Amino acid sequence: MKEKDLEKVVSVMKIAKKVFVITGAGISAESGIPVFRGSEGLWKNHDPMQLATPEAFEKDPVLVWQWYLWRRSLVARANPNAAHKVLSRWEKTYPGFLIATQNVDRLHHRAGNEKVVEIHGNIWEVRCTKTGRVFSPEEVDITEENLPPKSPEGGLFRPNVVWFGEILPPEPLDEISAFLSQEPPDICFVIGTSALFYYIQSWAHVVKMHGGLLVEINPDETPLSARADICLRAPAATALTRINELCS
Ligand code: OAD
Repeated sequence: MKEKDLEKVVSVMKIAKKVFVITGAGISAESGIPVFRGSEGLWKNHDPMQLATPEAFEKDPVLVWQWYLWRRSLVARANPNAAHKVLSRWEKTYPGFLIATQNVDRLHHRAGNEKVVEIHGNIWEVRCTKTGRVFSPEEVDITEENLPPKSPEGGLFRPNVVWFGEILPPEPLDEISAFLSQEPPDICFVIGTSALFYYIQSWAHVVKMHGGLLVEINPDETPLSARADICLRAPAATALTRINELCS
């Protein structure tokens, strides 16, 4: 990370009223949850990109559920890391604040954030493939022994998450649009995501169009890097801890 870049970020954060944060799997990597893309995401030689799809579930729901049960067990053991904790402090500091996360692990909530929009759902809820009704984890316990889990409403239970190739539900997107269309954010952090989805590019575009600073935090380059004002090439916990220290 270049000092000059950090100084620029901190100078904006010191006067910012509204902060927008987009997160992806990379922010939870330091909590021990593997990212989707790249060799460390592999599970028993299966590529997550082949498993997190409606086609995979149709073909082999047991295999997809086994992968989700494995991910659930990692998530249950994981704790929010320093990056999540900094964001929870910022929510209390800035009058305007929102996290749009692609993560289904709920680590932002567990770190204390409430202003979080989970655009891909969460890993603990399930829904009936026949009726679409959503069930909470208190209502449905899924284990290796009851796979594939059958819903009392006639279908199978599937994780209530958005899979690759599926359309995002409108409510979370509306919430983010409302946040962006009021007073524009002074700064937007895009943290730990390969930024391949169009909506990330489009939110980033809106922020920049209104003069907000676009900051990417990711050890690697992404399709968003060229449009970012500043790229901090470091793990999320390192970069956010450093920014937070310099702000206080
Ligand atoms: P990816 O696995 O595509 O990308 C993770 C990103 O995090 C990569 O760009 C890494 O370079 C970066 N990264 C790794 N370790 C990091 C660290 N310690 N700090 C910061 N960045 C780090 O995950 P997403 O972009 O979240 O959706 O993937 C988006 C969606 O693709 C997922 O939500 C999932 C998948 O399809 C669905 O299942 C619909």
